[in-house]
Amino acid sequence: MKYFCFQIIVLSLLLVSCSATAKPDKVIPDELKEGQKQFQRVCASCHGPEGIGRGKTPKLIQKKFFMESFSNEEITTTILKGSKSRKMPPQKRRVKEGEIKEIIKYIRYLQTQ
Ligand code: HEC
Repeated sequence: MKYFCFQIIVLSLLLVSCSATAKPDKVIPDELKEGQKQFQRVCASCHGPEGIGRGKTPKLIQKKFFMESFSNEEITTTILKGSKSRKMPPQKRRVKEGEIKEIIKYIRYLQTQ
């Protein structure tokens, strides 16, 4: 009986620790993992881990930021120079060129979800 109780405790501890470390993001294709990592590092503090916005920060998954209305070049410029209104500060020092490409790939993926 004692052993059984011990097992229950170990099991529930395992469960708790798993749910605590689980990230909010869903499973994504491998080739997007780098973009996701960089997005989490540079953009998520303001735009949320899945681009769903936070407070006054816009949702990047909304239609007005889809490719047809907001091109990859515009995203790149926004990242490098900040937004036109300057509400978003430039992130130039925090990202390399290659990382921007990966971030954009990840944003485009989020927009299809
Ligand atoms: C310090 C907070 C902050 C960080 C970090 C940040 N953003 Fe923003 N972002 C904002 C805010 C605030 C706005 C709204 C700006 C506005 O309305 O002019 C915005 C707007 C945008 C827009 C829309 C620009 C427009 O002209 O409407 C894009 C695209 C964007 N962010 C992408 C990114 C990406 C990609 C990253 C990471 C590389 C990032 N942002 C990092 C705060 C941030």
